[in-house]
Amino acid sequence: MQTAERSVLLDRRRTMALLASAAVCGPSARAAADGGLRGRAAARGGLYGAAVTSRHIETRPELVAAIRTECGAVVPEFEMKWHAVEGTRGRRVLRGADRIVAFAAGEGLAVRGHTLLWPSKGKLPPWIEAWPDDDAHGLQATVDAHIADLAGRYRGRIVSWDVVNEAIEAKDGRADGLRRSVLLDRLGERYIDRAFELTRTHEPTARLIYNDYGVEHEIPWQVAKRGHVLGLLERLKARGVPIQGLGIQAHLRTDAPFDAAAFGSFLDRVGELGLLVEITELDVEDREGPADAAERDRQVAGLVRQFLDTCLARTSVVAVTTWGLSDATSWLADPRWGRKRQDGLPSRPLPLDASMERKPMWHAMDSAFAGAPRR
Ligand code: G3I
Repeated sequence: MQTAERSVLLDRRRTMALLASAAVCGPSARAAADGGLRGRAAARGGLYGAAVTSRHIETRPELVAAIRTECGAVVPEFEMKWHAVEGTRGRRVLRGADRIVAFAAGEGLAVRGHTLLWPSKGKLPPWIEAWPDDDAHGLQATVDAHIADLAGRYRGRIVSWDVVNEAIEAKDGRADGLRRSVLLDRLGERYIDRAFELTRTHEPTARLIYNDYGVEHEIPWQVAKRGHVLGLLERLKARGVPIQGLGIQAHLRTDAPFDAAAFGSFLDRVGELGLLVEITELDVEDREGPADAAERDRQVAGLVRQFLDTCLARTSVVAVTTWGLSDATSWLADPRWGRKRQDGLPSRPLPLDASMERKPMWHAMDSAFAGAPRR
């Protein structure tokens, strides 16, 4: 049996065991009678989920009802990130993450962990980014303690961890494409190895994932990034790092080309390394799309169908997560990220609209799951 196939088989057992242990005949089991995307994905041996925040769980009952119908998993949109957990050194705030994990347990949902290390500017705590040049040992010990604490806290309750997120940035000029950061500069590339090894020590069952964006579209910088991602994965595998998969964020855009054959070859090369793939943050930026919502929805749905058909044709692609479930809570609507439409019309990046109604994107996902070979 091929390595990737074996990984898929092991992985399915791991996922099902985790779901069985967490699943109760809670509201989700009853409420998902029509199956929703959760049922569609599960029927093909896959898992579908969405990003959530504790505030949305606590203040949007209509969203919670939709999660019950549509999702088999949730992932904290930001509340497990180090910059949110420990903005002030020594004061770790995990109420939001705990709330999401408890919600998932009560609803029989799997939980994705996102993310233990995100080396991008402003995504590590400021006191880490300001770490003294001459104390690599102290930095490594502090990183280790953070990972041990977080992975240990949710031990046995995480189906897959984004151990390291976005460690590649070609603009930083390195031949290997690695992102310059306090972690890389002080600890070298092996900070990534260490993060996976330590996570596995404290979390024996979760899939361990390297997560990144910008490999999906047929534009030069994304095609080049595929090479850097594959290079990193090859080095990690060659060094025996306990990594099970690549997370492809899939923040797609309607104004960028998608080449199914080329992207499919990239997925196949990841599979040849014996790695699984998760689609971890699917949404579609329609900023450049037409003002007419129906036409925009049609474009978004067409791209999602083509993208997911390409992904799900590979049984190594075992899970799909959208970065939110409803347009009402998408990060793309947040002016801080500068991704809003010029015309001020609301973005429409997710499967449900702001009223929790299923959109053409939902139907595109439904059809893609239905047409996929079983994992
Ligand atoms: O809700 C709190 C508010 O109570 C508090 O007063 C305020 C103080 O800053 O923070 C608010 O939380 C913010 C949260 O978004 C909700 O709006 C966090 O500060 C802010 O960091 C967080 O931004 C998230 C961002 O990652 C950075 O963590 C976005 O929600 C999230 O969508 C975005 O997601 C990333 C993935 O993790 C990685 N891939 C790219 C993706 C999009 O940028």
